[in-house]
Amino acid sequence: MKTLAVYNVKGGVGKTAAAINLASLAAASGLPTILWDLDPQGGASWYLHADRAKSPAKSPDKAIWRGDKPLGPRILETPQANLHLIPADLDSRHLDTWLRKSEDDPQALKRLAQPLSEQYALLVLDCPPSLSYLADNIFAAADRVLVPVVPTHLSLRALMTLIDYFKSHDLPRSRLQPFWSMADRRRLLHRMLIEQPPKPMRDVCRAVIPYAAAVERMGEHRAPVESFDPTSAAAEAYRALWQELAPVLKQP
Ligand SMILES: Nc1ncnc2c1ncn2[C@@H]1O[C@H](COP(=O)(O)OP(=O)(O)OP(=O)(O)O)[C@@H](O)[C@H]1O
Ligand SMILES: [Mg+2]
Repeated sequence: MKTLAVYNVKGGVGKTAAAINLASLAAASGLPTILWDLDPQGGASWYLHADRAKSPAKSPDKAIWRGDKPLGPRILETPQANLHLIPADLDSRHLDTWLRKSEDDPQALKRLAQPLSEQYALLVLDCPPSLSYLADNIFAAADRVLVPVVPTHLSLRALMTLIDYFKSHDLPRSRLQPFWSMADRRRLLHRMLIEQPPKPMRDVCRAVIPYAAAVERMGEHRAPVESFDPTSAAAEAYRALWQELAPVLKQP
């Protein structure tokens, strides 16, 4: 099983939109996929129609996070074949404390996810926007940390913070994979940055996710763009992004 985290310390940059669309494309390509919603806001869970009443374990408890109880009963099916979900819960706002109490090296999430590899080929983590102890666990668990970057200076600064953090914590820079998100080519700054990517964006994905109404309409449909507007530029861009990531994530 490969683990793809969609992460940025910055909020509202298209993490959840990317996590949903990529997980759905992965599942459609035949990979048994599970999305773990680590954000107490629960946006990804909502897009995938998670209904807390359906979950046998209604709220996550400390025992699961400490590894004393199996994660299995929390897994939900979604409207899409091949795509399962571990929903978020408001209680997961305590995750930082629970994970830290279980042990002090940030491997707890990786260990919790390990049994999922029996059933799934891909784990997608939708991450909350914070640089916390949970984030350390995410960086330790992920094969790739996909970072949506809006083409603005502030967003680039957030990426540089992350690159510095990786350096100072001896994490491999190659694990970080930035991509342009919410790009509006009518804006001069967006065009300039995309056409001449600054140094931290040298290895940026070729696929650029446009600022598009189709992505906003995911909220009306509670579904990935591919399912209700497959000919849109946004659907095409997510497909292109998946095509770039798939070879890495399908490697043995
Ligand atoms: N490419 C896009 N074009 C237009 N709107 C977008 C795009 N991507 C995301 N949005 C909209 O922007 C808002 C934030 O998107 P999203 O929830 O994916 O960001 P996020 O980084 O996960 O936010 P948070 O940090 O709060 O978790 C949502 O209303 C979403 O519909
Ligand atoms: Mg989000």
